[in-house]
Amino acid sequence: MQNKRILLGITGGIAAYKIASLVRLLIKSGAEVRCIMTPASCDFITPLTLATLSKNDVIQSFWDTETGSWSNHVDLGMWADAFVIAPLTASSMSKMVQGNSDNVLLAAYLSAKCPVIVAPAMDLDMYKHPSTIENMHKLESFGVQIIPANDGELASGLIGEGRMAEPEEIHDYLQIHFAKKRDFLDRNVLITAGPTHEAIDPVRFIGNQSTGKMGIELAKAFLNRGAKVTLILGPSAEQIGHPNLTLRKIVSGMEMFEEVKSVWNNNEIGIFSAAVADYRPAQVADQKIKKKEETLGLELVKNPDILFWAGQNKAEKQILVGFALETNNEEENAKQKLIKKNLDFIVLNSLNDSGAGFAYSTNKITILDKDNKSISFQLKSKKEVAEDILDHLKNNS
Ligand code: CTP
Repeated sequence: MQNKRILLGITGGIAAYKIASLVRLLIKSGAEVRCIMTPASCDFITPLTLATLSKNDVIQSFWDTETGSWSNHVDLGMWADAFVIAPLTASSMSKMVQGNSDNVLLAAYLSAKCPVIVAPAMDLDMYKHPSTIENMHKLESFGVQIIPANDGELASGLIGEGRMAEPEEIHDYLQIHFAKKRDFLDRNVLITAGPTHEAIDPVRFIGNQSTGKMGIELAKAFLNRGAKVTLILGPSAEQIGHPNLTLRKIVSGMEMFEEVKSVWNNNEIGIFSAAVADYRPAQVADQKIKKKEETLGLELVKNPDILFWAGQNKAEKQILVGFALETNNEEENAKQKLIKKNLDFIVLNSLNDSGAGFAYSTNKITILDKDNKSISFQLKSKKEVAEDILDHLKNNS
């Protein structure tokens, strides 16, 4: 983000206090930052804090009383490479939709020529209200990019959707926005990621230790390079948001299967990184199972192999990539999966490599293809591994 000029608009919500971290992240990445604040936002974070961190004056009104000069909102919009408004409250959102310019931030929005990216933050009922949803659609139709709010604990103490995307996520989003490589522009990509949870009763499940991180990094890498991504994600703490992302959150392997079946033929590339539970309980108890007996038998039935289904329903132009996590006879097992599931590539990670696997943020992979070629990579961060996988796909398909 070196030398990128970011105009950072702050409106009056509690999440405004997090903007100090965002400014620091942006400055650390080499960006030039100017902050523009609504009067209400100054109740949540002081202009002095933001001026100090951004190393720039903070614009708070049309008129600078100290210097007697006029803050030219038109120039600000011309200066910026991107105008980011975070947090964006319901009130400022509705004013943006209406074209109301009763403060300098809104006037800058109305005259901005650069891309505008907003991160809404509000209470869950406000976020779900039909007027907010309609306003978000309208903003999108004006070309505004929305970084969706997260699920989580809100200032009201309630838990739900409405929490502003974290500063790190907004920073990641901007990095993606400014990324240069656009070699998957408008290509439709389907990704499965995360574990699945197979219910035993209303409070218990069978799961695994997958975090979803590898799949999330793949989704970010594709978005970064211009693709439109459908991500089918099992229970995961990882966060991701982007206008070109369709996120379908599922819990069980059967739910993942249904989602994949409904979208696979709309996609040119499928990357199946999910750790789908191979088996699920034959019966899910309606009530919590009580501990009466000394032993408890659990009958399991096989889950559908989703990747196998995609391979059987693959059109000529579609590219299908699977993952294999092996502990022994790694390459041979991976090759067999590649053939059996009708894949173009399989990404092998061996649990024998230290630093590779669910628990790590690093991975060490070998990519095998259907022509029996294989290429091994060094231990790298999952973000770098994702880039390697995309480069390999680009150069070999
Ligand atoms: N996979 C899938 N659906 C399943 C099981 C696996 O889509 N029910 C996909 C995974 O996302 C991965 C690939 O198949 O891309 C291989 O998964 P893995 O667990 O390594 O292999 P399995 O086919 O389940 O074989 P095994 O567990 O016997 O090694």
